[in-house]
Amino acid sequence: MNRDSPTLEDGLVETAEHEPSGPPLPEGIPSFDPNDPVENAVIRRLVGNWHRRATVKRDEPDLDELFDVSRADYPEQILPFHDHPTYLALEPDKRSELLSWAWIAYNRHTVMAEQKVANPAFALVMEGEYPGLSGEALNLSLAQAMVDEQYHTLMHLNASAVTRRRRGHALPDAALPLSHTARVHQELRDRAGDRSEQSLTTLAFATVSEISINAYLDLLAEDQAIQPINSTTAKLHNRDEYCHASISHVLAEMVYHHLDARRRRYFLDMLMQGLDAFVANDYSTWHRIVDLADIAGGHEMLADCQAETGRKRLVRDYTGLHKLVEQMGVADQVDFDWSRSHVAS
Ligand SMILES: [Fe+2]
Ligand SMILES: [Fe+2]
Repeated sequence: MNRDSPTLEDGLVETAEHEPSGPPLPEGIPSFDPNDPVENAVIRRLVGNWHRRATVKRDEPDLDELFDVSRADYPEQILPFHDHPTYLALEPDKRSELLSWAWIAYNRHTVMAEQKVANPAFALVMEGEYPGLSGEALNLSLAQAMVDEQYHTLMHLNASAVTRRRRGHALPDAALPLSHTARVHQELRDRAGDRSEQSLTTLAFATVSEISINAYLDLLAEDQAIQPINSTTAKLHNRDEYCHASISHVLAEMVYHHLDARRRRYFLDMLMQGLDAFVANDYSTWHRIVDLADIAGGHEMLADCQAETGRKRLVRDYTGLHKLVEQMGVADQVDFDWSRSHVAS
């Protein structure tokens, strides 16, 4: 990748938490004023530097030129069955096909997170659905974030398209089921008691997605061995998400502050449901893939992995959400095993 292409570090320097471009907040001032959302310093700063930092404002990399057929499309070591005897006994072509499917499914899940959770939540905020979330700066930052998410959708669709083209496999998205996260989100919305609970479900899932997606994208962004366009796509996406994580952190803190006790409890429950869903390995997708790729013994292999609790989670870095619940002062009110997280004191 040439140096004109942005790196993850380029994305970091202009986020509020790393190098603020506005005047520094005096020590002891909280990161937001719940009574004055328009003047939130983090939001205002992110609005001001979007045109310089957003991936959508950069030149697109030439995906076909970067494609290297000799590289794997996905990191083998994060497949839940990477060391299972059934997988290890497969011919190299079959293993390569499964890795291509893993990449296609990863893109599809990312697109679903954008289209079914993140952008709907941002749109609801802009429509005034949540108490305490309004104001010009906030709306500008949300409109920018929605442009980012729509562009991420395009990036991941393009990445899947070039994979199909260069691998010569159909690998159709439509053959895969709804992602686990999208399915759980929809089930919880269907079960919600009223409209405000439905809307809080979507905001909670978006909060988890926006704050945890960095760890999910890092699985590929930092892998030097896989297909360069795949790690580059994840890296370019990730740099925008560092800013979205800041926005979502502010949204969650503000909305929680304005909720009554019952809805606070509901929002916290949905945050934890969202986290459980987001970090899980999506076995329903894998069961479909082993059928599509015609893997003998594939379902038994997956059943073996599902039976092992240690393999249930794909994403194991919960630091962002752990930090959020700490800062909201509600860590003692949620039940989640944070044992792999580290929260700076
Ligand atoms: Fe995104
Ligand atoms: Fe995002």
